[in-house]
Amino acid sequence: MDPQTLTHLQTGYDRVAEEYVRRIFNELEHKPLDRQLLDRFASAVRALGPACDLGCGPGHVARYLHRQGLPVCGVDLSPEMVAQARQLTPGIEFYQGNMLALEVEAESWGGIACFYSIIHIPRDEVVTALQEMKRVLRPGGLLLLAFHSGQETIHLEDFWGQPVSMDTFFFEPAEMEGYLQAAGFQLEETVTRPPYEGVEYPSKRAYIFARRP
Ligand SMILES: C[S@@+](CC[C@H](N)C(=O)[O-])C[C@H]1O[C@@H](n2cnc3c(N)ncnc32)[C@H](O)[C@@H]1O
Repeated sequence: MDPQTLTHLQTGYDRVAEEYVRRIFNELEHKPLDRQLLDRFASAVRALGPACDLGCGPGHVARYLHRQGLPVCGVDLSPEMVAQARQLTPGIEFYQGNMLALEVEAESWGGIACFYSIIHIPRDEVVTALQEMKRVLRPGGLLLLAFHSGQETIHLEDFWGQPVSMDTFFFEPAEMEGYLQAAGFQLEETVTRPPYEGVEYPSKRAYIFARRP
């Protein structure tokens, strides 16, 4: 990703971080399927090692996993998101980082929950991001990837009243499965659901469990 695009993404999320907390931080309370998938993820990863909430935003997924007894950290591109996450859940380590080039040693984590952050990686760099996730996962480590299902790209110049410049990419599940295989993951299961009305952006959702062999 060119440096300007990355900077725009980072400053865009910095600008909406506070509002993101107000609107999204408690959303898992209203998303039973997401909780169920995260419960499954936590049970499977507990024996494998610590997990990371990658592209964590204000860290509600990390907090949920932590409450399920899973050691977890959070990484996000936006320093303001990281600051919010640290303040909201002081017991978890959150730090700034880029999923395309993580400052993390190989084979560090037993699992990665990556919820709605791959959506900002352009199609031609998704395999690179997934290879980076594979590098930092331990052998047998589990990835749970969540994204908007579809083919469109949404360009935002205004995000909740804040000036931004960012793209959101939707992916068909079969397309993402192909990227995961190209990155060397084994596919375990793909789950889709319609949007929870009145709770979230009205897009079809996709979740893929994939494992580092
Ligand atoms: C739509 S929010 C999702 C946040 C949270 N995971 C959730 O489910 O609500 C996308 C997040 O991904 C982060 N992000 C975007 N590109 C990233 C990258 N290259 N590396 C790490 N985080 C990134 C953004 O800063 C933002 O916090």
